[in-house]
Amino acid sequence: MQQATILIVGCGDVGSTLGQMLLNQGHKVFGLRRNINQLPQGIQGISADLTNLESLKAALADLDECHILVYAAAASSHDEAGYEAAYVTGVQNTLQALPSKPKHLFFTSSSGVYHQNDSEWVDESSPCEPKSFSGKIMLKGEQQVLSADIPGTVVRFSGIYGPGRNHLINRVMRGDIAPAKPEHYSNRIHRDDCAGVLSFLISKVLNSEAIDPCYLASDSNPVTMHEITTWMATTINSQITSETVSRRAGSKRCSNNKLIKAGYTFKYPSYTEGYSDLLDLDQK
Ligand SMILES: NC(=O)c1ccc[n+]([C@@H]2O[C@H](COP(=O)([O-])OP(=O)(O)OC[C@H]3O[C@@H](n4cnc5c(N)ncnc54)[C@H](OP(=O)(O)O)[C@@H]3O)[C@@H](O)[C@H]2O)c1
Repeated sequence: MQQATILIVGCGDVGSTLGQMLLNQGHKVFGLRRNINQLPQGIQGISADLTNLESLKAALADLDECHILVYAAAASSHDEAGYEAAYVTGVQNTLQALPSKPKHLFFTSSSGVYHQNDSEWVDESSPCEPKSFSGKIMLKGEQQVLSADIPGTVVRFSGIYGPGRNHLINRVMRGDIAPAKPEHYSNRIHRDDCAGVLSFLISKVLNSEAIDPCYLASDSNPVTMHEITTWMATTINSQITSETVSRRAGSKRCSNNKLIKAGYTFKYPSYTEGYSDLLDLDQK
């Protein structure tokens, strides 16, 4: 595989993990974000604000070659303006500011684009009619990427978990689990697999293999919130004192068949492997 120059825009948790994988493969990696102090060693930091086209142009002026652009910025605020800035305007500004056209653009999207809520299976061919502003704007961001004048691929992550993301663990440690009814299927992907999937697809592009415009990236085991919180309570020996219905996303089951068929092997195919690893880490 050729050595490539790869720009990761919004080089945060997933982006930094991806950047380290790409460095290990011998690529040259640039990471763009506002605060570049925390970037892992080896990733060349570019400090810029995606919402400011002029500053972005100045920051990217010297990047005369960019084979792969990974756009992985996350909204700074959970409102329409924040989403529009991160998932629509930021992509436009980046494409406008880059001195040369990348060979391929990857955009990290979300399973929040699906509206389904009856525990049905969804995949890349399922209709997306989100009712939430976040789903609508993410879908708009996807459409913008897929209609750009360079080849693009949208990778829809389900709920990302991993080191430092302790929301569910903390909830169960407090003794709170999800009730069995109403049934609520949830979907997740470990941070390392988010980066792994992107790295896998980038390798294919660099090897001139065809990839699809859209992949749904989620582990192989959609489970009910009741199952996962009960398993966790048993694993960490937490005494259950309350049951709370939490429906942040619709109840659906995300299929990763397309990624598996393409040859991707999940490091954490299920929450049991992923959370066992995390809980071990916390005890060290
Ligand atoms: N969290 C989930 O469960 C979930 C689910 C599905 C999809 N996703 C998507 O997956 C992707 C990766 O997520 P992540 O967890 O790696 O996010 P993250 O750790 O929050 O990283 C996002 C990065 O974007 C940068 N950023 C935000 N606004 C910016 C701006 N105006 N200018 C320049 N940089 C900016 C931030 O850096 P600075 O603050 O230093 O600028 C941050 O490092 C995101 O697109 C996210 O929306 C997340």
